[in-house]
Amino acid sequence: MSANALLPGATIGVLGGGQLGRMLAFEAKRMGYRVGVLDPTPNCVAAQVADFHVQAPLDDLEAAKRLAERSDVVTFETELVPADLLAHLENEVPVRPGAKVLRTIQDRLMQKEFLRRAGFPQAPFAPVHDPRECDDAVGEVGFPAVLKGRRGGYDGKSQARVPQPDALGEAWRTIGQRPAVLERFVQFRMEISVVLARGAQGEMKVYPVAENVHRRHILHTTRVPARVSDRVRREAERLACGIAEALGHVGVIAVEMFVVDDGTVLINEIAPRTHNSGHYTFGACVTSQFEQHVRAICGLPLGDPSLLSPVVMVNLLGDLWLQRTPPWEVVLSRPNARLHLYGKAPPRPGRKMGHVLVLDDDVDRAHQEAESILRELEQG
Ligand SMILES: Nc1ncnc2c1ncn2[C@@H]1O[C@H](COP(=O)(O)OP(=O)(O)O)[C@@H](O)[C@H]1O
Ligand SMILES: [Mg+2]
Repeated sequence: MSANALLPGATIGVLGGGQLGRMLAFEAKRMGYRVGVLDPTPNCVAAQVADFHVQAPLDDLEAAKRLAERSDVVTFETELVPADLLAHLENEVPVRPGAKVLRTIQDRLMQKEFLRRAGFPQAPFAPVHDPRECDDAVGEVGFPAVLKGRRGGYDGKSQARVPQPDALGEAWRTIGQRPAVLERFVQFRMEISVVLARGAQGEMKVYPVAENVHRRHILHTTRVPARVSDRVRREAERLACGIAEALGHVGVIAVEMFVVDDGTVLINEIAPRTHNSGHYTFGACVTSQFEQHVRAICGLPLGDPSLLSPVVMVNLLGDLWLQRTPPWEVVLSRPNARLHLYGKAPPRPGRKMGHVLVLDDDVDRAHQEAESILRELEQG
């Protein structure tokens, strides 16, 4: 253990108060840490668990400084925090991961340029500032393509399909005429992700590769172990570790990838934080991604990422609440299912409200059971 490790009793300041902050707070509290949260929403879901809440927008530097004053280390749970604000806080308190990592990741174009410079494989892309004055690079991307806003997108927000070149103008208007990146649409065989933690000394622990299915651009299920060959698994791990290293990241990081038909692995995007596709670790691994993040940012030895049981995670979206409160007996009556609800109100279509893990030695059975839980919840 390093001499300046932050031990239980220390205070962790978290920028952002959503479900990732909430689960981080649960795990930090379990280990005896204090937690403060900065978020504009009264009684935000992380503040429901934390010791204190600084209620202010994520770009309020004075408020962030108040959080930092009361914290021994500051971290973030969303890329919506301005990197400049992190850079200011770095003068006052350790910030992990640092401003430089966030600056590289939070702008899709900078992220892709970083990956290209460092030699990581990804789909062809080009910046789009205004489709009326496109340069040749746009033509070289190839079609069909996807137009993605450079900043602030999540769960497929600020994205539009571009089937052929003449649809670019309309796609650009759909995403609000903002600076964007055009990228080739990948005919993938499977989506996977690798969640890992990197400590301040550069040590890394990698979680088992996750197999992800998205619906309407939102994560639907995660299945672990993923149905990939050893070669694909090793390649995915190599890429994710290489990225964490090249960024000088400290904390948990997730790398989303496409596996294409010939077994090639392409990077889709990087999230420099805990990740929805790592929720399975909170119940199915020795050390959850949230405990692991606490360990990494506090300078503790990293925990064991091993899988305790094959698992399938299914997200619960606000659509389930349209008719009435979902009949939770459906989940609670199954001894191998774990219910996670985030304490959010109100439920809205597409809003992530919670998730369920199904643990089973037989991962196909776990998958079927997760889908049938969802069907039963939908039917009410
Ligand atoms: N270039 C692409 N080719 C194929 N599918 C894509 C592409 N970009 C995004 N998608 C689909 O949309 C999902 C969400 O897109 P992503 O870029 O990961 O944005 P977000 O920040 O919303 O997660 C992806 O997981 C994938 O299913
Ligand atoms: Mg994504």
